Amino acid sequence: MQEIKIELTKNPKAKPQDESKLGFGQIFTDHMFLMNYDEGEGWHNPRIVPFGPIELSPAAMCLHYGQEVFEGMKAYRGANGKPLLFRPEKNMARLNLSNERLCIPLIDEEFCVEAIKALVKVDEDWIPKSEGTSLYIRPFIFGIDPHVGVHPAHHLIFCVICSPVGAYYPEGLNPVKIYVEQKYVRAVRGGMGFTKTAGNYAASLKAQDEAEKQNYTQVLWLDGVERKYIEEVGTMNVFFVIGDEVVTPALQGSILGGITRLSTIELLRSWGYKVSERQISIDEVAKAYDEGKLVESFGTGTAAVISPIGELKWGDKIMTINNGEIGEISQKLYDNLTGIQWGKIEDKFGWVVEVE
Ligand code: COI
Repeated sequence: MQEIKIELTKNPKAKPQDESKLGFGQIFTDHMFLMNYDEGEGWHNPRIVPFGPIELSPAAMCLHYGQEVFEGMKAYRGANGKPLLFRPEKNMARLNLSNERLCIPLIDEEFCVEAIKALVKVDEDWIPKSEGTSLYIRPFIFGIDPHVGVHPAHHLIFCVICSPVGAYYPEGLNPVKIYVEQKYVRAVRGGMGFTKTAGNYAASLKAQDEAEKQNYTQVLWLDGVERKYIEEVGTMNVFFVIGDEVVTPALQGSILGGITRLSTIELLRSWGYKVSERQISIDEVAKAYDEGKLVESFGTGTAAVISPIGELKWGDKIMTINNGEIGEISQKLYDNLTGIQWGKIEDKFGWVVEVE
């Protein structure tokens, strides 16, 4: 395994005092991880250095054609005080899935998990302590060749930054209001919807902006072809409890294979729930609502954790779910998932990785 050089900052920043005001992704720790890729040399020079600006040519390819991929993961302060990671190997495997689609040289997944552990160790004191907080970890890769021709980059940077965070949505664990998007689409099969790449999020901004103007937190995307089947919410996968069936859209190439989504399915099945990964149309959701069978709905994501959905607006139809309150399943999932992540509940699945 390559050696990771560590250069500690000479100017450590003050850490946030009031953890109830962390918000999401606005404060960054003292260090970051960097590694370069140069054709012929592969990934090399892994290092932890003080957090700071990265010098880039204005012609850097990522700025022009969006050859960028990223991940979202978290470190938690375990019950014994040690930092814990949640299924980090899954994030690195998904990063390589994104890399493959975007013609980015694959990373050594095991090495990158070790690099992330080393960074978390160096910035360990930045992991907040209060309930509901964590250290958000953002690994990302981007092409830096100074060339305005369209081709895969030959020179890239892999970077990891960390940010102490609270809840992603200002609502916290209170249900969010979601707007069903009918005008814009996010991705189509054959595109890049299953990857975590900047362009997918750029494609969502306009719809997100319009939804916010109408007082909705996020948009629910429908499929890009028939505008009928449910895909995902802006920053999370989505689940509906219809009668005794928990339904989530199947992974068919246009939505993200969320790690919280997978863990949710595994937890629910371990408790005996019937979980279906299948196509589900917005008409089916509306019909279930009209018949009183739409028991609850929630989103899942690393940033969003488990986020109950209290209202869906589809055209003129407003569906208030579970009286706009958090449902039983959402609460149970939130308690168990965060309990495992924070080392408070026994981890029967072997999901949690301690940072030594
Ligand atoms: C995550 O949940 O980690 C994400 O990447 C969503 C995000 C764009 C904040």
